[in-house]
Amino acid sequence: MIELNRVCRAFGAVEALRGIDLHIAEHEFVAVIGRSGCGKSTLLRLIAGLLAPTGGTVTVGGAPVREPSREVALMQQVPALLPWRTALGNVLLPVEILRLPRDEHRARAAELLDAVGLAGFHDRHPYELSGGMQQRVALCRALIQRPRVLLMDEPFSALDALTREELAGQLQELHLARPATTVFVTHSIQEAVLLADRVVVLSPRPGRIRKVLDVGIPRPRSFGHNAHLEAVAECVAHLHDLLLRD
Ligand SMILES: Nc1ncnc2c1ncn2[C@@H]1O[C@H](COP(=O)(O)OP(=O)(O)OP(=O)(O)O)[C@@H](O)[C@H]1O
Ligand SMILES: [Mg+2]
Repeated sequence: MIELNRVCRAFGAVEALRGIDLHIAEHEFVAVIGRSGCGKSTLLRLIAGLLAPTGGTVTVGGAPVREPSREVALMQQVPALLPWRTALGNVLLPVEILRLPRDEHRARAAELLDAVGLAGFHDRHPYELSGGMQQRVALCRALIQRPRVLLMDEPFSALDALTREELAGQLQELHLARPATTVFVTHSIQEAVLLADRVVVLSPRPGRIRKVLDVGIPRPRSFGHNAHLEAVAECVAHLHDLLLRD
């Protein structure tokens, strides 16, 4: 579904990414971890068509990426909701931009908001919502158009640990119900192990792939009551070692 072949990206003298070879299958959930500045956001922006590679090729669904596509949704670190629109109105924004059928999507927007625990808040404005609630609205907004590819750039990093776990759990449920091909950037090893089929570990700048780790732990997974705690601990320890080794 997503193919990066020998992808490089430099910004002037700064080499952000070098020689990235990565193939992501349809419906797969891949987490990307690595130190600050190693090129994770750059990687997502290349896949989203917001940046062009300085070397190599990026294809999504077999076609070279040249510009943003409605098949690909990008969720940024900050929710960036429109303050004058309600939660529901914000979720429906891509529907208006892409001119999709409104009635059908209105019902879907309401279902998505309910699914992430925002029943009863559809008509609230962003200033009436907590940061975590705003981030949930942003998640619904990314999912409304049923993207085939979902790119998430540290979407939960500004939240408290419990909200973060809760949202990661909800994301897992949404993914199990209707999997989009997902690339999820995070600094949290725990979050990567909870969510991902594979974890890509990038080395410090220039970002290169240090390791791709398969997470063979059965789903659904959870942080707390996990029937596979040993496997989780092993995975977490392994990733920790990989990240510390510079
Ligand atoms: N538009 C840009 N212009 C110039 N340099 C850039 C640009 N975007 C990224 N860079 C540089 O590329 C490198 C990788 O940046 P990127 O934002 O991809 O890192 P990151 O892994 O997402 O970091 P963080 O974990 O802090 O978000 C950095 O050295 C950054 O300064
Ligand atoms: Mg970043």
